[in-house]
Amino acid sequence: MADIRGGGDVGVRQRLRGIEVFARPLPRFVPERAPAEPVALFLDWLAEAVAAGVPDPHAMTLSTVDASGDPDARVLVLKGVDGAGWQFAGHAFSPKGGQLACHPRAALTFYWPEHGRQVRVRGTVAPGSAQDSAADFLGRSATARAEALLGCQSQYLTDPAEQGRALARSLAAVEREPSFVDSARTLYTLAPAEVEFWQAAESRVHTRLRYERCRVGWERFPLWS
Ligand SMILES: Cc1cc2nc3c(=O)[nH]c(=O)nc-3n(C[C@H](O)[C@H](O)[C@H](O)COP(=O)(O)O)c2cc1C
Repeated sequence: MADIRGGGDVGVRQRLRGIEVFARPLPRFVPERAPAEPVALFLDWLAEAVAAGVPDPHAMTLSTVDASGDPDARVLVLKGVDGAGWQFAGHAFSPKGGQLACHPRAALTFYWPEHGRQVRVRGTVAPGSAQDSAADFLGRSATARAEALLGCQSQYLTDPAEQGRALARSLAAVEREPSFVDSARTLYTLAPAEVEFWQAAESRVHTRLRYERCRVGWERFPLWS
């Protein structure tokens, strides 16, 4: 593919327009055959992404809003999914943790390019129990725990060399006390109010199905693409 740089703004625009989307064989999605609830379909699509070798298939964008109502978003890894919702972990004192404390509603977006599939989940977020958060934290590698224990996520880094030194000190502390838990490291669950499945088609007749929570389970609505 041609380099998109060069040629000024018009050149970039033209080259971006020249990048093909969905020009590959894609699965067909038949909403009439979709299960009655969204977790089963999500797990089917995730399993197919894993089987197809999609890199980081469990990576998702978490969108939140801050105290001023301004949106924010970042990529996290999915920690689990069950009837209660979609789980992710983060530091309670990070920007996302602060945003969720003041406005506990969020959206998750998954994209699996190999299959041309997107899943969007919206709902209410609640922090898990101290035990569940601790179990998730202790299940991580020593290096990941050492990094989490730095507790400076998203703060200004004035001396780049300090980060490596701080991580080495933190790793030594983790090795001395492997059962130490950072109580601010939190396992959150997003309880879905709606979940939308989007399947691209080369024909551009994309297929969308939204599950909306109702009093007794889920209702399913096909959507225009
Ligand atoms: C693939 C990928 C996975 C990530 N997983 C996590 C994660 O599970 N938890 C986390 O706190 N940050 C994770 N990050 C870093 C976040 O995107 C983000 O930089 C960090 O959480 C700070 O966000 P905040 O300033 O909005 O709180 C990940 C980044 C990428 C690219």
